[in-house]
Amino acid sequence: MRIVRTVKSLRACIKKAKSRHQTVGFVPTMGALHDGHLSLIRRCRKENDLAVISLFVNPKQFGPQEDFAAYPRPEKKDKLLAKKEKIDIMFYPSGKEMYPSGFLTTIEVERLTEHLCGAARPGHFRGVATVVGKLLNMVAPDRLYLGQKYAQQAAVITQMVKDLNFPVTVKVCPTVREPDGLAMSSRNVYLSARQRQEAAVLFRSLQQAKKEILSGERRASHVVRRMRQTIKTHSSGTIDYIACVNADSLIPLEQLTGDVLIALAVKFGRTRLIDNICFHL
Ligand code: PAJ
Repeated sequence: MRIVRTVKSLRACIKKAKSRHQTVGFVPTMGALHDGHLSLIRRCRKENDLAVISLFVNPKQFGPQEDFAAYPRPEKKDKLLAKKEKIDIMFYPSGKEMYPSGFLTTIEVERLTEHLCGAARPGHFRGVATVVGKLLNMVAPDRLYLGQKYAQQAAVITQMVKDLNFPVTVKVCPTVREPDGLAMSSRNVYLSARQRQEAAVLFRSLQQAKKEILSGERRASHVVRRMRQTIKTHSSGTIDYIACVNADSLIPLEQLTGDVLIALAVKFGRTRLIDNICFHL
C-alpha cells in the first residue's frame, strides 16, 4: 500500500494506473475504520484494478458545536487495516493540502439537503459535497463507493455527480451492523455501556415499521408514531427526527408507496446516531 499525502503525488499514481488502462475505484472516509468501511473497501477492490481510499476528517462538514476536535483518529490502526485489506493507495492529506489559504469555493446541492440531517446540521452537506467534489477531481475514479448508512449523503452525492457531470459511477452499498442490529459507526465509541445497549432499539424500531408496512400499513404518520413510542419506551435517546420519504427525492410521504426510505436520527447524550431502511412497495 502506498500512503500518499499530496495531490501531486496522488495524481502521478493515478496517471500511471490509467496509462496501463487500469480501472480505479474510490472509497472516501474520515478514518476510524470499522467493518462498514471495510465492506466498501472489499467491494471496491473486487470491482476495480486499483483501490484508492481517502482518510481525511473534513473540518468543513462539522458545525461549530460538533465533534471535529474529538472525532476519533486512530491513525496507526487505520493504516494497518487498510494494508491488511490490500488497498493500493491511501490518500491521507493534511488540512492545508485540502484547503490551502485563500480557498473560497463550495458546492451546494439544493433541496435534498434541507430536511432530515440537513435541518439539524446547517452547512453539513455543503461541506460534504465540496470535499467529495474535490476528491473526485483528485482521484478521478471510475467508481465511487458509498454506504447506505448515510442515505441522505448518498442521495446528495449522486445528485451532485449527475448535475456536475462527474465521470464516475456511484455504488451505494448495504449498511453493516453489529450483532444486535446497531449500525456500525465511528461515533459508537462515544456511547456509554448503557447507551450502547439501548441504541439497538433504533434498528428494532425500523424493522418493526417495515413489518407493519409489509402487513398493509400505508400511513406514514402511524408508522412514525409507533416508532417514536418504541424508541421512547426502550431508551433514554432524544429523537431528532423520524421520517418516511421517497428514497431518491427525499420528499416526505404521507401514503407509503414506491421506493420508501425510513430514516431516523436519535441523540444519546451528545452522540447523534442515524440509521435507515429502504425498500420498494
Ligand atoms: P465516514 O463517516 O468515514 O464514512 C465513509 C463511508 O462509509 C460513507 O460512505 C458511509 O456511508 C460508509 N459507512 C459508514 N458506516 C457504515 C456502515 N455501518 N455500513 C456501511 N457503510 C458505512 O461519510 C463520510 O465519512 C464523509 O462524509 C465523507 C464522504 C468521507 C466526506 O468527508
